[in-house]
Amino acid sequence: MKTYTLNTLLLASLLLLAMCTQKDNSYNLIPYPTHIESGKGLFKISEHNTVSFGQGLDHIEYDFLKAGIALKTGIAVQKVDEAGAIHLTLSNTVADEMKEEGYQLTVDKKQINIEAISPVGLFYGVQSLLQLIGADGTVPAVSITDEPRFAWRGFMLDVSRHFFPKEYIFKVLDQLAMHKMNTFHWHLVDDQGWRIEIKKYPKLTEVGAWRVDREHLHWNGRKKQQAGEKATYGGFYTQEDIKEIVAYASARHITIVPEIEMPAHTNAALAAYPEYSCTGGPFSVLPGGIWPITELYCAGKDETFDFLQDVLLEVMDLFPSPYIHIGGDEANKAEWEVCPDCQTRIREEGLSDEHELQSYFITRIEKFLNDNGRQLIGWDEILEGGLAPNAAVMSWRGIQGGIEAARSHHPAVMTPTSHCYFDYYQGSPDLEPQAFGGFIPLEKVYSFEPIPEELSLEEGSFIMGVQANLWTEYVHTPAEADYMTFPRLCALAEVAWTDVEQKDFDFFAQRLTKHLHYLDLYEVNYAKSFSNVAVETAFDMEAKEFQIELSNPISFGEIRYTLDESDPTAASALFSDPFALDKTTTVKAATFLDDIGYSAVSSEKVWIHKATGAQAQYMHPYSVKYPAGGDMALTNSLRGSKSLTDGRWQGFLENDLDVLVDLGAKKEIHKVTLGCLQTVGSWVFFPSSVAFILLDEQETELAREAITNQVSLQEAERLIQNFSASFTQRARYVRVVAKNQELCPDWHAGAGQPAWLFVDEIIIE
Ligand code: ACM
Ligand code: ZN
Repeated sequence: MKTYTLNTLLLASLLLLAMCTQKDNSYNLIPYPTHIESGKGLFKISEHNTVSFGQGLDHIEYDFLKAGIALKTGIAVQKVDEAGAIHLTLSNTVADEMKEEGYQLTVDKKQINIEAISPVGLFYGVQSLLQLIGADGTVPAVSITDEPRFAWRGFMLDVSRHFFPKEYIFKVLDQLAMHKMNTFHWHLVDDQGWRIEIKKYPKLTEVGAWRVDREHLHWNGRKKQQAGEKATYGGFYTQEDIKEIVAYASARHITIVPEIEMPAHTNAALAAYPEYSCTGGPFSVLPGGIWPITELYCAGKDETFDFLQDVLLEVMDLFPSPYIHIGGDEANKAEWEVCPDCQTRIREEGLSDEHELQSYFITRIEKFLNDNGRQLIGWDEILEGGLAPNAAVMSWRGIQGGIEAARSHHPAVMTPTSHCYFDYYQGSPDLEPQAFGGFIPLEKVYSFEPIPEELSLEEGSFIMGVQANLWTEYVHTPAEADYMTFPRLCALAEVAWTDVEQKDFDFFAQRLTKHLHYLDLYEVNYAKSFSNVAVETAFDMEAKEFQIELSNPISFGEIRYTLDESDPTAASALFSDPFALDKTTTVKAATFLDDIGYSAVSSEKVWIHKATGAQAQYMHPYSVKYPAGGDMALTNSLRGSKSLTDGRWQGFLENDLDVLVDLGAKKEIHKVTLGCLQTVGSWVFFPSSVAFILLDEQETELAREAITNQVSLQEAERLIQNFSASFTQRARYVRVVAKNQELCPDWHAGAGQPAWLFVDEIIIE
């Protein structure tokens, strides 16, 4: 009785807590503001509304406001000199210590006021107002005081791997502004194309902007340009284009940070000017992937630096950005090791190795930029061999580079591959267009915390902010770029702007579904992958059975499913509670909104077999990096896909798999199967052999079958292989031993390093 009362109390207080923390999603803002107080009633925008300005404002914000209102409601507001219903003012008394980008927005039934200490604050106030306006012109009464958490709220677009026209850059800038993002990092040059006109070196675009067209082939299967072949794929931005784009960005309070890669990712530049390499070439603009990146600018020749400084002078003339990005990533130093000029430089400068030569290179460029009033920023490899004295670091290989920079009091931007690489998959690869790899769904982006726990408060202040990167090896068109970017950029905008205490993924998801209607107005081709249904199994302890669980990550719409291999329709079964299956079945499921199919159709074969739900005892642990479903992973009825990060594959590093599966009682066994993955590019190999051993209740061996792997380890494709053995035997236990290759073979890039073994299910029939 006492317990009951306690539980009831607990439940009541939890409910109360839930009610108190319930957030009001009628204010449909992304990113969510720092401080918001709801008001009573609505303001109604109509043709009669006027917009007025306080003193000293150029009226540029008016154009955005007018255009935005017209787009959302079809209503044309007018400008007046004073006392408009919508009033924008610059004021020094907005709020104590408000950041320059902050603003106050108040809406009541009669009046809308936006106040800020600077035009950029007003601009963000206008953006918030535009988000709040309904299609019918109503704005809910509200009082908002808002400012960003981070100063660097960035998005990078790679226009080298694929070229994107000027009009698309405008569209990107509009979207960044709408999400209060203020930095556009423009990856203008790389091995596959030089995209910025440089007057002093015309061949950079005459030659470097064009490559042979192999668009129909896989990125990593494209032969270099052959003799006599014409380079027809490409494009570049003239200096006039760039001026237009920079002005367009500036009107939206966006800084464009241009990136000129050095010392690697230089094939397009060297195709035009081979004299700045170590070898003299010849080079060609690459139509596809290359690894490792060995063709570098020569760090031994002074002419290389003259060339780069000339280029940077023109770049600085075009871009007012305080930071100039010089790349610095992924330089394999093999050529520097054998280049006489580079070796002379190492000797004369007293450098200890090629890493220090890279540091020399970057420091020399930094001095030039600093002398011209600019700061250098580069990818985290610029830490190797010693960071240039004033450099900022863009941390991409995890957050460690950012930590190191901040600890030595250098500014850093966090853009780790774990959370910020928008070229990675955002949903199951089965349902997505081909992507670079990896897996970064919406909720993963949202969960990113740019300031690592290990930094002190002071060190943390060197983290300038956060950035998403869209590399475009597998992104061919503006529509595809939209698809990879949105809605993940909406999540990143909130990481960059919103206070940690305000962050809440479920609340974000509620706002997002409405926010997407706003993106529709701008014809943004956002992905709906967040609504795709995940099919999972869970063991129900009470019912002692595996149950099927269907969900989408943002608990959105209704999930409908079929068990007869047909695609679900609005009339298919509605998922409410987990259910069990008594035989192997294909479950198909999709999210429906207002009876219309919203998501793609997920299809999952659930294998019901004699070991389904059985306990497995591990002789060697699986890796904490790839636990899949933990101790139940091999008996959970679910198979893996060809993506090693789909959460289905259990990984063993150097260890063998050696498990004992308890069937609970003696059962008739005809066949035992172990599912394995091989993807040698990720150091994952098939086992050298698999042994299946059947045991009785006393664990005495009854039968044994062993098979050796017949598939080449050099097979480039990702492969899934079932290793099976047949029996006619009753047994209580099944032991499965799969021998890890232990070390990567001699010919492999990871030769001598520990090898992975990946397994997904032990199927007992
Ligand atoms: C990078 O992804 N190579 C910076
Ligand atoms: Zn050299």
